Amino acid sequence: MSLSKSKIIETLRGVIYFAKGDNIIDLGMLDELEVSESSIIFRLIFPKLGEPAVNIVSNAATKALHEAFGSDIEIKITPITEKEKGRGPLAGVRNIIAIASGKGGVGKSTVAANLAIALSRTGSMVGLVDADIYGPSIPMMFGVEGQSPAMTEREGKPFIVPIEKFGIKLLSIGFFVDTDKPLVWRGPMATSALNQLLSDADWGVLDYLVIDLPPGTGDIQLTLAQSYSVTGAVVVTTPQKVAFADVKRAATMFRQDKLKIPLLGLIENMAYFIPDDMPDKKYYIFGKGHGEIFADSLQIPLLGQIPIVEKITTSGDTGSPIALDEDSPIAKAFMEVAIRVKNIIKENKS
Ligand SMILES: Nc1ncnc2c1ncn2[C@@H]1O[C@H](COP(=O)(O)OP(=O)(O)O)[C@@H](O)[C@H]1O
Ligand SMILES: [Mg+2]
Repeated sequence: MSLSKSKIIETLRGVIYFAKGDNIIDLGMLDELEVSESSIIFRLIFPKLGEPAVNIVSNAATKALHEAFGSDIEIKITPITEKEKGRGPLAGVRNIIAIASGKGGVGKSTVAANLAIALSRTGSMVGLVDADIYGPSIPMMFGVEGQSPAMTEREGKPFIVPIEKFGIKLLSIGFFVDTDKPLVWRGPMATSALNQLLSDADWGVLDYLVIDLPPGTGDIQLTLAQSYSVTGAVVVTTPQKVAFADVKRAATMFRQDKLKIPLLGLIENMAYFIPDDMPDKKYYIFGKGHGEIFADSLQIPLLGQIPIVEKITTSGDTGSPIALDEDSPIAKAFMEVAIRVKNIIKENKS
């Protein structure tokens, strides 16, 4: 019997991928079908490999083709991931930048919010995910607290529409996880909530998706590293040695095989104090030069030193991040960080 592509496709339409409740053709899983007189070779695109469904579906496809075209036909199926194919919900996202810290309170969210704004001011399209299960604060910093994202539908599947503010697309784990619940309840929900934020949201085309991680290293970091392709992490510390000890531990974990998220560089937050009425003065209240020493010890670039200014807190509380105020010294500091981050990413890719 002659092998025609249309007959093969018709046959494969009978193979169901139960996880998605449809056949593999209509789900668009068939890729690079090659047919010769005696062989049928193709790839099947799965959300991820290593699940029983990959073998079950591949075996069902082989069986269906043997039944239709004879058991002498050689059939070669290579399963690949949506990521390898460059597909999936984050296919339009060019870079994922994770903002990490050793402990809470060092200014991780402040950095995530203001870096997102600064990147957007360089003309890039930017999204921001608040994945800090311990204290989601991005909605407050952007003044969208209490809002809930709309839903849309594509190909019969529901998608979350990120909230847009100041030209940035936002989603927070706080929209999906009840933060009044004790942590023992929140923990197990964290990874599924992260997957929803990343995979079930309509991010569209973005140059940078900035993720505000929880402090330290836990399930969220592990899920991110294993299921998504993270461009790199920016680590945030304050000048105190205790804060650095924590960030160093986290950075070491990021480098381990289990995680392997590349470190883009270090940000020293609260590096010095600028009084509001004396903008030219710098007081190194925790000591000078710690950022350089810390960055050297981690062998990563120092991306920037952010001063302590009172306004950063009030702007964070009133829902408009300080980097929006172009003339403030802090906006300039974040702009320099954004440009360094962009250049480092560009260099790493070339
Ligand atoms: N450079 C800074 N100057 C003044 N206050 C800051 C600065 N960075 C952060 N803060 C304040 O410190 C507190 C903790 O910052 P936050 O970004 O929420 O930390 P984290 O996300 O690491 O827990 C917030 O009240 C924030 O406004
Ligand atoms: Mg935070």
